[in-house]
Amino acid sequence: MNENCFDKIEVLETERLILRPITELDAKYIFNIFSDPEVAKFDWFYPIEDTEIALKMIRNYHTSFTSKEEITWGIQPKGSDELIGICCLGDFEVRSRRAVIGYDLAKKEWNKGYATEAVKVLVDYGINRMELNRIEAFITPGNDASVRVLEKLNFTREGLVRERDLIKGQLVDGIVMAILKKDLLREEKTDNKRKLSKELL
Ligand SMILES: CC(C)(COP(=O)(O)OP(=O)(O)OC[C@H]1O[C@@H](n2cnc3c(N)ncnc32)[C@H](O)[C@@H]1OP(=O)(O)O)[C@@H](O)C(=O)NCCC(=O)NCCS
Repeated sequence: MNENCFDKIEVLETERLILRPITELDAKYIFNIFSDPEVAKFDWFYPIEDTEIALKMIRNYHTSFTSKEEITWGIQPKGSDELIGICCLGDFEVRSRRAVIGYDLAKKEWNKGYATEAVKVLVDYGINRMELNRIEAFITPGNDASVRVLEKLNFTREGLVRERDLIKGQLVDGIVMAILKKDLLREEKTDNKRKLSKELL
């Protein structure tokens, strides 16, 4: 695993989005995202009640980065100052080069393809820059939009981990989905072949 990635959070770019470090100036946006019960529905946290908690979350992002536990990016549409979501890589297992991915978007931005776009570039960063071999996600059953995002990016649904997470006081199962470096390479090869055959037509 390339630990240089913990020197500073790199800015990443997609067609429509910038993924960048989150600062305390983003507290109002973090509050907007995480005060929504719909965003918190399938996760362990409760909707946050004020911007002070948002500030604490941002400070936690910074501490977790310094301690190399998690890297959290803010998701911002190009041409806008607004942070509309976050995504992260964390729970690093250095020896086996493995990490867990996470993502949350403000509800008003759902179903525009933004999560798919952000997770795609994060997977590319994790595998090609951080030199991870495996990126996994644990999804609460019922969170079909989240499963769909990972399906679109060719993650494999590997099974169900029983009673993995404590969510709002209840132990719940986790659907485990993952992508490996070799999956990504296979995908890149197929894309290249498709491009080549289009050019030959
Ligand atoms: C999960 C989440 C990040 C998805 O973000 P998004 O930007 O809307 O995702 P995308 O637009 O890239 O893709 C969503 C896909 O799910 C589909 N979808 C949306 N709601 C769905 C539902 N209830 N059931 C099945 N599919 C659904 C969409 O149609 C789309 O698929 P398509 O492109 O094939 O049409 C967003 O819903 C969210 O922030 N939820 C709350 C936090 C959360 O659950 N985070 C993930 C924790 S594992």
